[in-house]
Amino acid sequence: MVVVSSSFLTTLLALLLLTSATSATPAQPRGAPPASNAASLSSPSSLSRRAPNFIYILSDDQDAASATRDVMPHLARTLSEGGSNYTHFYTPMSICCPSRVGFLRSQHGHSHNVTYVSAPFGGWERYVELGYRDDALPSWLQRAGYHTSYVGKLMNGNTLTNAQSVAVHGFNRSEILLDPHTYAFTNATYSVDGGPPENRPGEYSTDHIRDVGLSMLDEAVKSDQPFFVGIAPIGPHAELLPADKSVFLPPVSAPRHAHLFPDATIPRTPSFNPDRPSGAYTIRNLTRLDDEQVAYLDEWYRLRLRSLQSVDELIGAVVDRAEQLGILDNTYIIYSSDNGYTLGSHRRQPGKTTGYEQDIRVPFFVRGPGVPAGGLRDDVHSNIDVSATIAHLAGVETQYELDGRVMPWARPVGREGKHDKSIGTAADGVDGALTGTSTHHLSEYWVYLLDEGKYAGEQQAALYRALRVKDDGANWAYTVWCNGERELYDMNVDPHQMNNLLLPPSTNGTALAEPFAPLQSRTSSSHRVATRLDALLLNLKNCKGRACRELWTALFPRGEVQSLRQALKTEWDAYFDAVPRLHYTNCTPGFRRENELPDWSDDLAYDGAKGKGPK
Ligand SMILES: *[C@@H]1O[C@H](CO)[C@@H](O)[C@H](O)[C@H]1NC(C)=O
Ligand SMILES: *[C@@H]1O[C@H](CO)[C@@H](O)[C@H](O)[C@H]1NC(C)=O
Ligand SMILES: *[C@@H]1O[C@H](CO)[C@@H](O)[C@H](O)[C@H]1NC(C)=O
Ligand SMILES: *[C@@H]1O[C@H](CO)[C@@H](O)[C@H](O)[C@H]1NC(C)=O
Ligand SMILES: *[C@@H]1O[C@H](CO)[C@@H](O)[C@H](O)[C@H]1NC(C)=O
Ligand SMILES: *[C@@H]1O[C@H](CO)[C@@H](O)[C@H](O)[C@H]1NC(C)=O
Repeated sequence: MVVVSSSFLTTLLALLLLTSATSATPAQPRGAPPASNAASLSSPSSLSRRAPNFIYILSDDQDAASATRDVMPHLARTLSEGGSNYTHFYTPMSICCPSRVGFLRSQHGHSHNVTYVSAPFGGWERYVELGYRDDALPSWLQRAGYHTSYVGKLMNGNTLTNAQSVAVHGFNRSEILLDPHTYAFTNATYSVDGGPPENRPGEYSTDHIRDVGLSMLDEAVKSDQPFFVGIAPIGPHAELLPADKSVFLPPVSAPRHAHLFPDATIPRTPSFNPDRPSGAYTIRNLTRLDDEQVAYLDEWYRLRLRSLQSVDELIGAVVDRAEQLGILDNTYIIYSSDNGYTLGSHRRQPGKTTGYEQDIRVPFFVRGPGVPAGGLRDDVHSNIDVSATIAHLAGVETQYELDGRVMPWARPVGREGKHDKSIGTAADGVDGALTGTSTHHLSEYWVYLLDEGKYAGEQQAALYRALRVKDDGANWAYTVWCNGERELYDMNVDPHQMNNLLLPPSTNGTALAEPFAPLQSRTSSSHRVATRLDALLLNLKNCKGRACRELWTALFPRGEVQSLRQALKTEWDAYFDAVPRLHYTNCTPGFRRENELPDWSDDLAYDGAKGKGPK
C-alpha cells in the first residue's frame, strides 16, 4: 500500500544532514539550547536538545472570518502579535474526519481515501483498516524520539465501544472524546490512555480540554524529550446529544460567556441570503431564507461566537503556560481548524462540505523560532502542509512521499532577512522538492452535502473538485461538480462568489452535461482562464507527493510556462483547448477514479518538439 520512493528517501537523508547542519549554524534562534553533535543524530537524547517542540491547537468547524481580533483577543495577543496570521489557508476536504486525516497523513483526500465521517467511506475504523494508525504524524514523531500527547477530538468514530478494542496509537498520553458524546458540550465522555469511557457530566468540554492540555504540556516538558501536544476542543461545532445524534443543535458556551455579543448578527455580505439564486448544483436550487430562518441563523452565529470564547481563553492559557515554562524559543505553537462553516451564504442552512470559501478557508496562526511576530501572509496553504512542515522540522522518516509542502515558517530567514516567497532551494536548507509553489489549493468531496439545524434539508449526494489559484495578483476559484456544472469566480472582484463566469450546462440541473462539451463561458477571457484551471485540476486530481506541490511542471515539463500569467497568453490557447475536460460519469457517493475522467497522462503535456498541444 505504501510507496517507498528511493529518491524520496535520498532526499530525506539529505534533509536530515541539512537539518543537523542548519541547527549548528549561528542562524539558530537566540536562547535555543546548544546544538548537539551531529554524529549522534539518531539518538533521542540528542534530539531532546535540538529538535523543536510543537503545540497544535485545533478548533472544530471554524471559518476563517470568525478568527478576528474582536472575537478572539487572546489569539490576537499571543499568536497573531507574537507570530504570523495566514489569510489564505484552506482545508483539503470540508468535513471533520477527512480533513483531520489529511493533516495526520499529510495527504489529499484522493491519496488517503478517508472521505467521510462514517463507514463505509470514512471514520476511525476505516482509518485503522487502511493501516494508518501506526503510519501518521504522531507515530512518526514518536519514532523520531518525540513525546506525544493529544486531548480532545481526534476524528469521528472513536466511540464508547471501540475506545479500548481499537485504541488510538502514537500518543504517550491521550484523552480522546468518544462518540456519541463528542459534541455534548456539558456531558462529554473521554477515553484516557486507551482506558474505559469516563463520562464528565457538568464539566464544560472546552475548559476540561484546556486543563488536560495544560497538564499534558507540563508533563511533556518534564519528559526531557522534544514533544508534540495536540489540543482539540469542540467549539464552535454544533452540539449533538446522544439521545438523537442526527439532530445538529447550535453550540453551547460556558455560562460565563452566555451574555456576550448580544447584538451580533451574521455579516450581511453579498452572498448572505441573496435575492437571486447563486452557486451551482443543489445550492443554486435553494429558496430564499425567510425572516424566521434568518433570526434562527443569527442566534446560531451568536452562540458560535460565545462558544469560541473558551477556545480563545484556551489559546491564551496555553501560550502563557509555554512562556512560564520557558519553552517559547524552541516551540512552535499552531492554531487552526479542521474545516470552515457557513450560516446563510448562498441561502444555505448552517453547515460545511461545499467548496465555497466559507466552508474551506480556515484560520491558521503560528508562532515560534524564526516566525516573524505580527506577520501577515497571503500565500496559499492547507493543513497537509502543516504536518509536512512539522515532519520536516522534526526530521522524521516516512515510508511514502507526503503530498504537503514545507511552509515558509520552517525555512531559515534568507540573506535579506526575508523568508523565501514560494520556492525553497537547497541553499535555504530546505530541498526545493519539499516546498513547491504556494499558489494553489485543491479541495475535494465525494459524499453528501450536509445541512445542520432545524431547517436542514434532505441529505444530498455531492461530488466535486475545487481548485484555488492565487498567483501573481490573479486570484481564481474553479469547481467541477459531478453533474457537469462548473463554476469560475474571479476572487479579486467577486470574493463572495456571486457571479459564476461559466454558464450552466444545457441540462435542467439533474442530468449530466456532455462530457466533452466546450466550456460555456460568458466571455473569451473567462473561457481562457477556465481552460487553464481545468487542465491544472485534471492533472492534480490524482496527484501524489511532489506532483501535488508543483502546479505547471506536469503540463509544461520543459518549463515553457511557470505561472498563470504566462499560461494565459493567447499562444497557449490551442494547447489548452485541446486538453480534455475533467468530468464525472455520475454522482454516486464514493471516490472511484473510474468515475472521474480522464486520468492525466504524460501525453497530455505540452510537447513543443512535436508541435503544439497534447499528442
Ligand atoms: C488575521 O488577519 C485577518 C486579515 O487581515 C484579520 O481580519 C484578522 O483579524 C486577523 N486575526 C487576528 C486574530 O489577528
Ligand atoms: C476509496 O474507498 C472506497 C470505500 O470507502 C472504495 O470503494 C474505493 O474504491 C476507494 N477508491 C480508491 C481510488 O481507492
Ligand atoms: C513515549 O512512547 C514511546 C513509544 O512507546 C516510548 O519509546 C517513549 O519512551 C515514551 N516516552 C516517555 C517519556 O514515556
Ligand atoms: C450524561 O451522559 C450520561 C451517559 O450517557 C447519561 O447517563 C446522563 O444522563 C447524562 N447526564 C445529563 C445531565 O444529561
Ligand atoms: C432542484 O429542485 C427541484 C425541485 O425541488 C428538484 O426536483 C431537483 O432535483 C433539484 N435539483 C438538484 C440538482 O438538486
Ligand atoms: C430533467 O432531466 C431529466 C434527465 O434528462 C429528465 O428525466 C427530467 O424529466 C427533466 N426534468 C424537467 C423538469 O425537465
